[in-house]
Amino acid sequence: MTKTIPPETQQRALELHDILNRANYQYYVLDAPELPDAEYDRCLRELQALEKEYPQLISSDSPTQRVGAEPLAAFTQIRHEMPMLSLDNAFSDEELEDFDRRIRDRLNSSDPVEYACEPKLDGIAVSLLYRDGILERAATRGDGTVGEDITQNVRTIYSVPLKLLADDVPAVLEVRGEIYMPKAGFAALNEKAQKAGEKGFVNPRNAAAGSLRQLDSRITAQRPLELCVYSVGLVQGGDLPERHTEILEQLNRWGFRINSEMAVAENIQACIDYYRRLGEKRTQLAYDIDGIVFKVNSIALQKRLGFVARAPRWATAYKFPAQEEMTELLDVEFQVGRTGAVTPVARLQPVFVGGVTVSNATLHNRDEIERLGVKIGDTVIIRRAGDVIPQVVSVVDSRRPADAREIEFPSHCPVCDSPVEASPGEAVARCSGGLICSAQRKQAIKHFASRKAMDIDGLGDKLVEQLVDEGLLKSVSGLYHLSLEPLVTLERMGEKSAQNLLDALERSKATTLPKFLYALGIREVGEATARNLARHFGQLEKLMHADTEALQQVEDVGPVVAHYVAEFFEQPHNLEEVAALQQAGVHWEDEVQELGAQPLAGQTWVLTGKLETLSRSEAKDYLQRLGAKVAGSVSANTHTVVAGPGAGSKLNKARELDLPVLDEEGLMAMLRTQGIEI
Ligand code: IVH
Repeated sequence: MTKTIPPETQQRALELHDILNRANYQYYVLDAPELPDAEYDRCLRELQALEKEYPQLISSDSPTQRVGAEPLAAFTQIRHEMPMLSLDNAFSDEELEDFDRRIRDRLNSSDPVEYACEPKLDGIAVSLLYRDGILERAATRGDGTVGEDITQNVRTIYSVPLKLLADDVPAVLEVRGEIYMPKAGFAALNEKAQKAGEKGFVNPRNAAAGSLRQLDSRITAQRPLELCVYSVGLVQGGDLPERHTEILEQLNRWGFRINSEMAVAENIQACIDYYRRLGEKRTQLAYDIDGIVFKVNSIALQKRLGFVARAPRWATAYKFPAQEEMTELLDVEFQVGRTGAVTPVARLQPVFVGGVTVSNATLHNRDEIERLGVKIGDTVIIRRAGDVIPQVVSVVDSRRPADAREIEFPSHCPVCDSPVEASPGEAVARCSGGLICSAQRKQAIKHFASRKAMDIDGLGDKLVEQLVDEGLLKSVSGLYHLSLEPLVTLERMGEKSAQNLLDALERSKATTLPKFLYALGIREVGEATARNLARHFGQLEKLMHADTEALQQVEDVGPVVAHYVAEFFEQPHNLEEVAALQQAGVHWEDEVQELGAQPLAGQTWVLTGKLETLSRSEAKDYLQRLGAKVAGSVSANTHTVVAGPGAGSKLNKARELDLPVLDEEGLMAMLRTQGIEI
């Protein structure tokens, strides 16, 4: 026996439908949420509870029905009453102008034609049928005449209204649009797949297609899909505006997401401008687009123009250069970086992709080669989006030739022949040759010369390569033995620039210990670590003799960094280089020597509130120089708390624990008595 629903419960359920539908619309369609999450959850739970008590309340358009349903055995076929057409393409400005000319010829008019401009989303075309404002059925395009019923899957997508947001909608309204996966959702989905040891999807379009093809809609419900609508199909029992862009705006008011980049162009020149503008913005958009669709905006003119074969005469898609192309993997070479990392680089049959000709792409490391399962001779898909370096995204298995070769990771460095070593747990393999390896040497010299290191003006990457390749430069210290004559023999090097370089080298000799340490290019020693090391040890000599235990006393230095530093100063050729650099005149002032002069060693200080004379990082720096640790929270182990205006809970805690508290003046006085000049 089903219980009769009290009228006020019925009423409340409808109210909750409205609240939740509107909240979904604001959140998923307008990107402008108004209802707080907690309130949304409360309403949803209330509705779920009502539906549990009175199951007759559950309707197909209830906001609770978005979680997916029992799996289907197969998709049913659906015949589109109005065929779903495709679009003609244009690939150049001229072809777009031809499109416009054909239209004006056919209309027998020389007046400019107004166009609607919309990004061409790269997803899956769908048709949604609403009867009396309620979603009845969703179908794929299929062959344009017959598609598949994917209603259960589409229902799980929050930007698909289950019920339209107005009463004045046509009795029958078929809306068409694209279901797609935004780039961020795609990346997150693939990351999850990778962690689970699964292969993931090649691109957002495949991910969207795969998600919609699920017989189990509960899986679709987990996928970050969105709908954007771009036209109407069958419309009965109601009228729509007379211009395409106005129809879409009407659809937007009824509950559908439309593309926020949609625009009206007064003539074909404005269309070309729009195409250029969006082309520049393409990589910043949250979703993939593969071109711009231009449509004659007047519906009356659309009707006059009609169709040819499977495409309308009144619309065209002006495609962007493809971001993915197929080509052949000719070979794999191995490049060696500054730290010896050996990176596999794909040599490709040149292919035009993303607007440029690509003949190399990175394969990252051994794991990536394994993940792709790629062999030499394979046909691969290359992706180049924006300025991102070209990637190999997948292998076209069906095109593998019989003589495809395994990619062999070298056991010896391709540049210097030293053994290549892979540390366990690390995806990267490294050449063990250190500075013997000319590839590492080039990178090491480039790093040494860079702005944050020795800051050698005019010593760019190209010049370093030239100098090493010509045999003029064998080591970092060799820089300081360069002379004018051999320099001017280099290509593109006049006497003036050679002299400028020598002057810059001379200037660079006066440096600081942190910069010098950073310039040495010790693994994992970036600017900040170099600074900490310099401050802690004060003198290079002391640092060079420190063992890993002593090194780990330094702020932010753990066992790994300590190991790299100690190892660096154990290698004779590194010691020789350091000595050679000093002999050549590289010099610096010792840092304020801290060891033995660390009156605050063993103490933990906490800074809270606003400091007015010192910046917080200066105060922290000074305290650390004196040997104190600076922590973020107050505990019984805290030695002193420095509290400025606005201090709150930390100061209260200090008082509770009866800890010494200083204000900023007190801190400065203490620092001065310790010999710090401020
Ligand atoms: S209009 C009769 N507008 O592109 C016109 N299509 O090659 C029908 N597409 O299957 C399409 N964004 O899936 C139109 N703003 C847009 C579009 C768009 C993507 C897809 C659609 C269609 C294909 C045509």
